[in-house]
Amino acid sequence: MKNIFFYGLSLAFLLSGCYSADTKVGNNKPEYSDPHSFSFPDEARVKHLDIDLKVDFNNKQLVGKAVWQIETAVNAKEIIFDTYGLDIEKVTLGKNEQSSTYTLSTYDPVLGSALHIPIDSSIKIVSIYYHTTDSSHALQWLEPEQTSGGKNRFLFTQSQAILARSWIPTQDSPGIRFTYTATVHTPKGYLALMSARNPQAVNEDGYYTFEQPYPIPSYLMALAVGVISFESIGERCGVYAEPDILTKAHYELAETEDMLKAAELLYGAYAWERYDILILPPSFPFGGMENPMLTFATPTILAGDRSLTTLIAHELAHSWSGNLVTNASWNDFWLNEGFTVYVERRIMEALYGKNYADMLSVLGYQDLLYALEEIKTSENLTDGALVLSLDYRNPDDAIGDVAYEKGAALLTTIEQLVGRERFDPFLTSYFKTYAFSSVNTNMFVDFLYSQLLKKGSEEDKKLNLDTWLHTEKIPNTFIQPVSIRFIETGNEAHAFLAGKAASDLKTSEWTSHEWQYFLRYVSDSLTYDGLNALDKVFHLTQSENAEIAALWYKASIRLNYKPCFPQIEKFLGKVGRRKFLEPLYQALLDNPVTEKWGRGLYQQFRFRYHSVTQHTLDLMMQ
Ligand code: BES
Ligand code: ZN
Repeated sequence: MKNIFFYGLSLAFLLSGCYSADTKVGNNKPEYSDPHSFSFPDEARVKHLDIDLKVDFNNKQLVGKAVWQIETAVNAKEIIFDTYGLDIEKVTLGKNEQSSTYTLSTYDPVLGSALHIPIDSSIKIVSIYYHTTDSSHALQWLEPEQTSGGKNRFLFTQSQAILARSWIPTQDSPGIRFTYTATVHTPKGYLALMSARNPQAVNEDGYYTFEQPYPIPSYLMALAVGVISFESIGERCGVYAEPDILTKAHYELAETEDMLKAAELLYGAYAWERYDILILPPSFPFGGMENPMLTFATPTILAGDRSLTTLIAHELAHSWSGNLVTNASWNDFWLNEGFTVYVERRIMEALYGKNYADMLSVLGYQDLLYALEEIKTSENLTDGALVLSLDYRNPDDAIGDVAYEKGAALLTTIEQLVGRERFDPFLTSYFKTYAFSSVNTNMFVDFLYSQLLKKGSEEDKKLNLDTWLHTEKIPNTFIQPVSIRFIETGNEAHAFLAGKAASDLKTSEWTSHEWQYFLRYVSDSLTYDGLNALDKVFHLTQSENAEIAALWYKASIRLNYKPCFPQIEKFLGKVGRRKFLEPLYQALLDNPVTEKWGRGLYQQFRFRYHSVTQHTLDLMMQ
């Protein structure tokens, strides 16, 4: 693996000298350097994709033809695509499809195989005929019983971070953008949706066409196929879901258009025409995925009381941070997620007030401290810095809460240093300046010092930017977030641990955030009797709120609280969201009484999870 990588790098180095004369290619900042892609865009880069996909549920296979429009340097000799688990059938060049040779490099377990296609600079079109295989890890093919309707099959993709290459031969780097059109052929009665302009109703012939007119990186390529209905939320927003949960989803997400307007007031016009949300079946491995024009979301946010919609604010915020201004490589992941968490909280503050947003900041800061503690005892100490050095590691194994919460904490710190009247226009201008391009940390730092902060000034000294970016520390000038609403919650938690009866706790005003804070506060000290007492009064075993339930299940596992075990089993058999499954299975393994049960459950349910969840849990079970 290293050999291939070094070969790629040194080749890239050599070629960058030879081909820099061309004005069209290679002048797209930032200079290309992405350890997770074999492609070499300075020689030949993709610009536009016309893709044709046939969805074959019987063979669990996409049959595809990808027609790439490319740009080449004057002396270009080949174009390189990333692939993973794809069967390449045929490659042709040009409009009239001259048959071409190609080679696939040795398979690398993280990066897949580079597809080398010889070309010269006259070539403008490359067509690749292929089909996906069982190793196409972006895809999850669901049986009817894994959907909420229970009657039809379902397919969805998850391309971030480096899985787009497992369903499309592509230059799979967040530093490379392209526009696309697509034709998707589905079985009768099914609806296909993509990260593009979408249909709102089933098409009887099963042919759907899509267009994404704005250039996006390939990790934002997305497809879902199922029996899905649509309901409008406002002028530009709507929700897609399986028919039996559509009403619930529509209620839960009714505030989406207000979020969109709040975000625009803060950071400028929404660039992607529509903002729709697709609620996926419960095996979706993430909370949400910011696929442009169509966020993919887990049904675990449907709590019934709109208490978990911060996740929508988050995915919506990516319409600026991430989708418009994109991290140039996964080492700069904090530029996507840290900015997005910051923007998410500004949206929530605009809609629900400062006290609400403060609760989110406090819970987030707890997550950060926990993540930094974990890193301290891990073998990857540098993961505590904002700027990562992932090298050959799978980004999926390495990117975590630090990018999100330390990134957001840094932006909050800058905001507090200069004030919102200076910081808000700065961020707006950052999004405008770098719209539809990719940015690395150095470019952000340059922009910061040219537009907002004077290098060496008092403000700058207080900031300690290098400590944030390049060490695992949080500078001690950081002001920890405080939540007024949590003060009361903390008092109640403290009193409960000191013997106050569960029925005397003042919980009537609590939202799911106070419950999360309370459970985090008490969970390590809880006894079996304490847990039992809480359950008698608050019925937490039956909680329909996945965030509360997951915390409750974890405590129940530690204390061998049997009344909760059937619920835990039900949850693990249904939900595939990695953020919940990881701590639950870990708790099962950590307790000698439940370990065997936990391993058995994983064996039983593994096939129901998406590959990214399987991958994480496989490592844990070893
Ligand atoms: N883009 C991420 C999901 C992601 C990150 C997928 C890295 C693959 C690799 C998405 O925006 C996200 O952050 N989702 C969070 C929810 C959010 C509220 C923190 C999640 O899925 O939990
Ligand atoms: Zn995100």
